Amino acid sequence: MKNLGILLSGRGSNFEAIARNVAAGKIPAKIALVVSNRENAPGLARARAMGLNTRFIPLQGKDREAYDRDVVAALKEHQVDWVCLAGFMRVLSPYFVRAFPGRILNIHPALLPAFPGLDAQKQALEAGVKFSGCTVHLVDEGVDTGPIVCQAVVPVLDNDTVETLSARILEEEHRIYSEAICLLLENKVRVENRRVALL
Ligand code: GAR
Repeated sequence: MKNLGILLSGRGSNFEAIARNVAAGKIPAKIALVVSNRENAPGLARARAMGLNTRFIPLQGKDREAYDRDVVAALKEHQVDWVCLAGFMRVLSPYFVRAFPGRILNIHPALLPAFPGLDAQKQALEAGVKFSGCTVHLVDEGVDTGPIVCQAVVPVLDNDTVETLSARILEEEHRIYSEAICLLLENKVRVENRRVALL
């Protein structure tokens, strides 16, 4: 059974969806640790309430790599095999990425490579696209640039606001993040350069 480490900064609804699927036996893994850079992240409180191991790791003036060394140490201490970023609003250092080569996943609320970075749903609305969605990808040393594992398409409606579009995308995020985790844990994909193919 593989160990998952979840990193989050806020609400933690993607974490909760993953945790539900783990508890239901739909994801063949254990959540070994939930880490947050924000002490008051609601997701961290939920993880605690579920009886999971949690760790608040404060930034405290550390530079990016020093901070990431603390996070990686905590994940290794809990024998984490796969890292899932679930609304973790920090860019990982090369040190972190190299500590879990090909074993870090992220969810992004747009169809990458469109609208990377912050406020992806607002970027999509402002660009006037008719469809947006979400992407689960492996994390490399860039920002939202790694190989794409799963995507889901969501229509953009004429009367959408950032809130309504985000809510519609979020439902799909909850579905495809667990799907992507299962594909990888069960070795059902082959990663070749930027392309992830189903076996
Ligand atoms: C999600 O929409 C996720 O895709 C996004 O933050 C939200 C976290 O929600 N992540 C990013 O924008 C990363 N660039 P949650 O805390 O309820 O899972």
